[in-house]
Amino acid sequence: MSLPTESIQKPQFSEAAKAEIDRICKQYPAERRKSAMLPVLHIAQAEFGGWVAPEVQDLVAEVLGVKPIEVYEVSTFYTMFNLKPVGKHVLEICRTGPCQLRGSDELTLELERITGAKVGEGPSADGLFTLKEVECLAACGFAPVVQVREKYYEQLDTEESVNAMLSELRNMVHRPALPWEETGLPNALANN
Ligand code: FES
Repeated sequence: MSLPTESIQKPQFSEAAKAEIDRICKQYPAERRKSAMLPVLHIAQAEFGGWVAPEVQDLVAEVLGVKPIEVYEVSTFYTMFNLKPVGKHVLEICRTGPCQLRGSDELTLELERITGAKVGEGPSADGLFTLKEVECLAACGFAPVVQVREKYYEQLDTEESVNAMLSELRNMVHRPALPWEETGLPNALANN
């Protein structure tokens, strides 16, 4: 009887991501590749479905020439890295003072009601949305604010603005190209 030795396929970065990682790492001395940890983790998260599974973090460690534990220490410290599977869109809802004064608590409840997802829990049943509360997104003048990838949705204090955001996200067939991509979707995200 043969044993399933390769039941889990090892993740691999796309060629575009590898080129971007090389470009970033060249900004540091060869013996300091670890300094590129944050941008490489961001690339990994974008490449592999919006979260960094343990095997993806191991790949990051391999690429940077560090021990896996050194990557785990960083990924578990910064809240921008998702350690569990997420929905197609991760809505980062600012909960800091100015946004709270402008209704972020009510916005969170409304987003939970509409999407069916709960803050801090798994994706909505349709797989479209994950809700996260985050600290100040540095757009306080436009509170309340939600960040989805590189885009900010601002002044979400009306039913119309919230519905417009959700409608735009629901109708997004492909996510926007990332800075290191020419066009299209690399590997795992195509199905996300
Ligand atoms: S408090 Fe929400 S963006 Fe600053």
